[in-house]
Amino acid sequence: MIKKPAKTSLPIHDLISGRWSGRAFKTDAISREKILTMVEAAHWAPSCFNDQPWRFLVWDKNHDADAWQKAFDCLDDGNQEWVVDAPVLLLVCSDTEFSKRPGRANRWGQHDAGMASQNLHLQAVALGLMTHPMAGYDKARARETFKIPERYDLLAMIAVGKPVDSADDLEGRRKERELAERIREPVGTRMFDSRWDKPIT
Ligand SMILES: Cc1cc2nc3c(=O)[nH]c(=O)nc-3n(C[C@H](O)[C@H](O)[C@H](O)COP(=O)(O)O)c2cc1C
Repeated sequence: MIKKPAKTSLPIHDLISGRWSGRAFKTDAISREKILTMVEAAHWAPSCFNDQPWRFLVWDKNHDADAWQKAFDCLDDGNQEWVVDAPVLLLVCSDTEFSKRPGRANRWGQHDAGMASQNLHLQAVALGLMTHPMAGYDKARARETFKIPERYDLLAMIAVGKPVDSADDLEGRRKERELAERIREPVGTRMFDSRWDKPIT
């Protein structure tokens, strides 16, 4: 697989540095056990009042090809170009209300669903898989197609699959993007020390 570990100033866990959003997947199926393992990892995220506001819809091409296709059809053209080989798609949603406190808004729902998502991404890396989150899809179409109640926010779709072994068989922009360096702004522009805007060092 193509490795693009994060270039960090201090060593961080391999799972975190090793995760990256690649776009070149093998078409191989992902075992049901691996899919369920990723979902289980997501489900063990912390959440406000332990309300577990995440909802994940999973589409496995080798389990229900028709449903996978319907999910794929919701993606923007630019994403469809490369997602086409990914055997598993997911949609992450969050509850806008607390399930155990009817009518009370949960303003941490998206936060908690994000944490559950990251668990899933990291578990996938541990299983030798690659994931890629996407905002580029038609939310209204996904809501309508899969009858997702208004109460739930539609967050990211995620493509999952086995990464290709190398970039040798890729061409043009696809190859360029797959080999492009991963970048981040300097840590101190986002992480502050004691007061707002003072970079931590
Ligand atoms: C919520 C979210 C939406 C994203 N949407 C897209 C997308 O629609 N298409 C795409 O190619 N990448 C998408 N990305 C991937 C980001 O571009 C990628 O995470 C970022 O460039 C950092 O790269 P890395 O994940 O390899 O570290 C998205 C990522 C997140 C978290």
